[in-house]
Amino acid sequence: MFFSPDFAPFRPQLFTAADELRKQSLGDDVYLRGLVEFSNYCSCGCAYCGISWHNKSIQRYRMSSEEIFETVKYAFGLGFRSFVLQSGEDKFYDERTVVKILDKLKNVFDCAITLSIGEWSKESLRNFRCAGADRYLLRIETSDPDLFSRLHPDSKWDDRHRCLQDIKELGFQTGSGILIGLPGQGPESLYQDFKYLLALDPEMVGVGPFIPHPETPLKNEKCGDLDTTLTFLALLRLFLPRSFLPATTAMGSIHPEGRKLALLAGANVLMPNVSPTENRAMYELYPGKICITDDALKCHKCMESWVSKMNRRTNLGKGHIIKDSSKK
Ligand code: 5AD
Ligand code: FES
Repeated sequence: MFFSPDFAPFRPQLFTAADELRKQSLGDDVYLRGLVEFSNYCSCGCAYCGISWHNKSIQRYRMSSEEIFETVKYAFGLGFRSFVLQSGEDKFYDERTVVKILDKLKNVFDCAITLSIGEWSKESLRNFRCAGADRYLLRIETSDPDLFSRLHPDSKWDDRHRCLQDIKELGFQTGSGILIGLPGQGPESLYQDFKYLLALDPEMVGVGPFIPHPETPLKNEKCGDLDTTLTFLALLRLFLPRSFLPATTAMGSIHPEGRKLALLAGANVLMPNVSPTENRAMYELYPGKICITDDALKCHKCMESWVSKMNRRTNLGKGHIIKDSSKK
């Protein structure tokens, strides 16, 4: 019922309830995670994704370990203490390379690191964990194995699910999430996604609207809508009161106030891009992606300013997530 049009008049009350619960359980801080998009090479052909192999016209780039280090160093100097290293499924960075990057970063910078680099074996994940990765983000994208297989020619739903279980078992702070408005998804499927995420019980959940990219097979499909995305987010807040929920860039890209509305419907995280500006436009997951021209300093200042106007404050700290308050 929450995802049907009949629920629309009740949405404002749902958003207010989620906002109040966020305040009660996590306070007013908006945690910033500096996002480093270090490679847009991808061996996968996800039907929605602008950096998938479907896109033949995009220029590809890879950052060297040294460039990744310098990027983190710069943002660390600005005060960032939490970083997300993200890329396409690019095995140019093999297990040893990723471990080396982690080792070096964790030795030099006192910071939290989230990996968002796709599916790996449990053995590799264990080594990433041992090298100091604190968190791992891997969206399930959809809980429906049939829909998943139609959209992901190079991945299997069971593998994705298994990988998420491994991530949890290895003690990473686990992040997952879904896309909203995928063709063929429907309210029942969203309800199943919701139940899937509750059962997974992750520390972080990122949800965003599907945005059609012109160089992908889904180019003529409808964009996911913001109200449904906010509804899903607010329900997540009510059922996972201590989880970290980002106001995603995709929400900000389909609506000028998208991220503010998300922060008012249960979200408590922003992920400003701290990658070198010359690479930003090439990490085009979807068209109209915001913040592709501003460098980390400008983006941070801009966020600080609009967040403080909401009577909230940005927090650049590690932002470790302790879901069980008895362990705090
Ligand atoms: N629209 C919205 N989100 C997208 N992602 C990839 N392509 C798109 C798109 N066209 C999301 C996926 C992925 C995350 C990094 O970006 O959910 O997990
Ligand atoms: Fe990036 Fe404003 S948040 S420019």
